[in-house]
Amino acid sequence: MVEFAQTACLGGGVIGASWAALFLASGRSVSVFDPAPTAEKAVRDYVEMAWPTLTELGLTTYGNPEAISFCDSAAAAVEGADFVQENVPERVAIKHATFAEIEPALKPHAIVASSASGLTLSQMQVGWDNPARFVLGHPFNPPHLIPLVEVMGNDRTDASAVEEAERFYEAVGKVTIRVSKEKPGHVANRLQAAIWREAISLVIEGVASVEDVDKAVWAGPGLRWAAMGPTMLFNLGAGEGGLQAFCDHFTDTFNGWWDDLGRIHLNDEVVQTLVAGVSDAAQGQTAAELSAKRDALILAMQKVTTGLRDAS
Ligand SMILES: NC(=O)c1ccc[n+]([C@@H]2O[C@H](COP(=O)([O-])OP(=O)(O)OC[C@H]3O[C@@H](n4cnc5c(N)ncnc54)[C@H](O)[C@@H]3O)[C@@H](O)[C@H]2O)c1
Repeated sequence: MVEFAQTACLGGGVIGASWAALFLASGRSVSVFDPAPTAEKAVRDYVEMAWPTLTELGLTTYGNPEAISFCDSAAAAVEGADFVQENVPERVAIKHATFAEIEPALKPHAIVASSASGLTLSQMQVGWDNPARFVLGHPFNPPHLIPLVEVMGNDRTDASAVEEAERFYEAVGKVTIRVSKEKPGHVANRLQAAIWREAISLVIEGVASVEDVDKAVWAGPGLRWAAMGPTMLFNLGAGEGGLQAFCDHFTDTFNGWWDDLGRIHLNDEVVQTLVAGVSDAAQGQTAAELSAKRDALILAMQKVTTGLRDAS
């Protein structure tokens, strides 16, 4: 019997359906609550669509796509669940109402994790009488394909709940990081925001086109970042001397670049420049064609990196 054998997904939209597919693939059952009349079909279709990808990644050995049920209420969905992933819309009132409804129905040791991207843990804890086993479990879209989950508790959270949530996510094939302090955007979205800000600034300053700035990421450091993070890579960037030698050498350079980085804000003019640039870069390919290309590339990279991670 697997640990956390019974799971629940509250909300079966973009994120909830993908989580459901991953949990099913790992050999767990999933009960779903989503009030949209079309939700059951959409989630079932999503699971069917994601299954071949999960199989290619070697994640469906114990899985059963039929181990999914749909409930009439959030409280009914969490009954009996060991792990509950909350993916309702990013509106604080809906989150609070959901937590207030499910709290009395939870098993005593169930863990509830929120996928919330923008709301903080402490904002969401307001919906609870006792949020000791409620954590942040923030994925990247789509959660069945992108490994990262940002996990966070705070002083109102049982430390064991955070550890158990990490263990659960790792058991279903995820890579977790621990967020130790509340920050809007957690960690990874802030990193995305930082690089996108400079990417836009370079375009607006006329340094390079949208297409070339994007290319500079995916054909350059982006490929290395998929292997290791920036600090470890720079540790390897000065040979035997490691990060100390790298910093001795490049401190003035980096401080100079940081002082010069753009401080852009999105406005209509900036958006129109980016929209025109991305349209040029697409060279007539539709969004569906580009999405299929992106997914095929991510799957190919994931197959290799998952294999290498498992072997190391
Ligand atoms: N989309 C992303 O890229 C992304 C990435 C990471 C995290 N998230 C977070 O995941 C959460 C869900 O986002 P999404 O993109 O899946 O949104 P979505 O709009 O695609 O899905 C939300 C689903 O919740 C359902 N719903 C509405 N009210 C509900 C209720 N009371 N109980 C249960 N379900 C209800 C809706 O019918 C819908 O199917 C948000 O907190 C969001 O911040 C989103």
